[in-house]
Amino acid sequence: MARYLIEGGTRLSGEVRVHGAKNSVLPILAATLLTKESILHNCPKLTDVDAACNILTYLGCGVTREAETVGILPQSQDCCEIPDSLMREMRSSVVFLGAIIARCGEARISLPGGCELGPRPIDLHLMALEKLGVEIVETHGNLECRVNGRLKGATILLPFPSVGATENAMLAACTAEGRTVIHNPAREPEIEDLANFLNRAGADIVIGEKGSIYINGVEQLGSVEYDIIPDRIEAATYLCCAAITGGEVLLTQVVPAHMEAIFPMLEEAGCVVKVGEDTVYLKLNGRPSPIKLVRTMPYPGFPTDAQSPLMALSCVASGTSVYVENIFESRYKHASELARMGAKISLEGRVAVVEGVARLHGAPVVCTDLRGGAALVTAALAAEGQSEIGHISHVERGYQDLEQTLSALGAKIVKA
Ligand code: EPZ
Repeated sequence: MARYLIEGGTRLSGEVRVHGAKNSVLPILAATLLTKESILHNCPKLTDVDAACNILTYLGCGVTREAETVGILPQSQDCCEIPDSLMREMRSSVVFLGAIIARCGEARISLPGGCELGPRPIDLHLMALEKLGVEIVETHGNLECRVNGRLKGATILLPFPSVGATENAMLAACTAEGRTVIHNPAREPEIEDLANFLNRAGADIVIGEKGSIYINGVEQLGSVEYDIIPDRIEAATYLCCAAITGGEVLLTQVVPAHMEAIFPMLEEAGCVVKVGEDTVYLKLNGRPSPIKLVRTMPYPGFPTDAQSPLMALSCVASGTSVYVENIFESRYKHASELARMGAKISLEGRVAVVEGVARLHGAPVVCTDLRGGAALVTAALAAEGQSEIGHISHVERGYQDLEQTLSALGAKIVKA
């Protein structure tokens, strides 16, 4: 199993070009099933993207990749099933469901399992699809979905602004008959990116002032060429990496507006943050200050995906920080691994109390999930001595060229 060996203590300094957003390109790859042909630029090289492309290939699409450009050519054959092996490669494969049903009138997928963040129910996905006329039968861990005739537009009220459920509803509704309104949808930038992609392909989607999404179904979508938005979570992670080493970093090709909830937390930690049109500069001299309260919330609140890298920074703060994880049931698995490096973190349900220590020490640790792994890398960059970080396949799901990027900033990191 590959691992990272990191010798901590080097002050990071330099420039990072942020890649395309994983959580935008995955639903957009599902959306390509509804197009005649799609060309996606700024597509990150990630194992989750490879998994999504494998699903598209299995469904009969032609898939090509040239550097960070991916081309998808959906063929005529209407394969409508994702086998368990491919479903298990990536938890968020469920986002293909709406697109497959819209394209084929039926779909068969195995129930996505839980993951490291706790049970990942899809009840809101299924509720939305049933509102649009889908009949869903669960048999032995598989979902058999079918619609008689065409999907029908409907009004959908999401009790929780689920990102994936919003995406599935949009994908099923954009070629449905009639109008669909999604109330209380997720409002993450990745939702807007999906709407922009679909509209570029000929859909009729409007995100209303109050957040509701209005969709007038169209007969079919055409061909589209599109640039994926930058990854705000990758950007936040590199800001934490620079900060924890008392260093500085200039991020380029970012959308600062997507990171508005992150900057105040870094500034409370003592960082200087300067925002440009498509750049963010961060510098931290010395030890970070504690952050009184970090509460993860649906966008535009503080993003749950940035909780663990920021917590790594708080582990070496000059005081105590409090975190409340409101989105996922179990998103503190990285705490016990950080504790092996000397971190002092007390957990009570959704609350984590982080008592800063002067210095972490290198240790052998293992990644428990994607962002938890990013937290361990962040911590190791500042820890005294060498850290060995195992199970890095978690991290490679969401960070392209991590070791090259950190090495270019001066980090002593090798993949072994
Ligand atoms: C997306 O996951 C992202 N993944 C996650 O990023 C991100 O953390 C999450 O949104 C929240 O922003 C992708 O976009 C591929 P949700 P998703 O549906 O769609 C509950 C990362 O690290 N829920 O908004 O699964 C669910 O259990 C990943 O890049 C239901 O109860 O998130 C969770 O507690 C991790 N029923 C909460 O809602 C449902 O039907 C948020 O889930 C769906 C969700």
